[in-house]
Amino acid sequence: MAFDFSSRHVFVAGGSSGINFGIAQAFACAGANVSLISRSADKVAAAAAQIQSLGVQALGMAADVRQPEALQGAFAAAAERFGPIDVLVSGAAGNFLARALDMSPNAFKTVVDIDLLGSFNVARLAHPHLRKPGASIVQISAGQSFTPTPYQAHVCAAKAGVDMLTRVLAQEWGAEGIRINSIVPGPIADTEGLKRLAPTDGTLDAMAQRVPLKRLGRIEDIARMAMVLASDWGSYVTGAVIPVDGGLALTGPRDFTAAAEASRQARV
Ligand code: HXC
Ligand code: NAP
Repeated sequence: MAFDFSSRHVFVAGGSSGINFGIAQAFACAGANVSLISRSADKVAAAAAQIQSLGVQALGMAADVRQPEALQGAFAAAAERFGPIDVLVSGAAGNFLARALDMSPNAFKTVVDIDLLGSFNVARLAHPHLRKPGASIVQISAGQSFTPTPYQAHVCAAKAGVDMLTRVLAQEWGAEGIRINSIVPGPIADTEGLKRLAPTDGTLDAMAQRVPLKRLGRIEDIARMAMVLASDWGSYVTGAVIPVDGGLALTGPRDFTAAAEASRQARV
């Protein structure tokens, strides 16, 4: 399936690496102008330069999704450069393995602030700049949203909130012609997120074997679903939470005890 996003404006929050950067690259290959934000000015500038090398325009800006003023400035600058936002990908996130009793209140709050409050900030502050009608918001969630997972209390709480936000905003913003959906990636190879949950070859193999399709996901698996949702092929889909996970959501809670121990030993 060939997608054409020529001259459309795609804004990716948390877009300087991993899955979100792969999504940005896929839209760029389909002709989109791309705006990216993340915390690190160097990382986001390098990511924007890589997008530009694909032959499209790109704007990289340092902004933390926990800082509304910085975000507001980034959305204004992006809209001035490329016009209204056609596709908003919201995927800034943080994670580490820890039991609830090993998390300080600030540790729990940090992940909730980035993943959940950050997603609200991104959607809320993008709203004035979204194309109406026609904009599509793609939230990048995680299976922890619906699978209660030890060592992941912060991410479970935050991503459950992200998906509820998807369902509420689909109703509040539907009349303006704005669609919003969540993609729930499975374990995606060669990403920071998976490295944190499966830090050794053993834990990585166990993860892949748990997936009904018996393989880790690829970044392009997620990028393709984002493009379907953002294109006319997804024009009657809103408020949906869609696993793209090889069937992992069917298998119940995972045991991260070995992975947590491996992470702890790597840190000492
Ligand atoms: C317990 C920890 C901890 C750990 C940090 N903290 N790591 N507590 N165990 N392993 C605590 C700190 O002690 C501190 O609490 C609080 O968390 C905030 O830490 P900071 O380092 O000051 O926060 P910050 O600089 O904002 O960094 C946020 C971060 C960091 C989440 C902690 O890891 C980060 O920037 N991550 C971004 C990259 C990332 O995680 N990518 C993966 C996304 S994948 P105190 O009380 O000491 O102040 C994902 C999961 C999806 O989201 C599922 C994948 C399958
Ligand atoms: P990643 O490479 O670490 O991506 C996270 C991105 O968010 C980076 O660009 C990071 O850049 C940015 N970011 C982090 N905190 C931010 C903040 N406060 N403000 C703005 N930007 C911030 O991780 P990934 O594994 O690809 O994960 C991407 C998304 O997929 C996340 O939403 C994650 O929950 C989800 N997911 C991943 C997997 C997986 O297997 N990897 C599985 C399920 C879900 P800076 O450091 O420059 O800020």
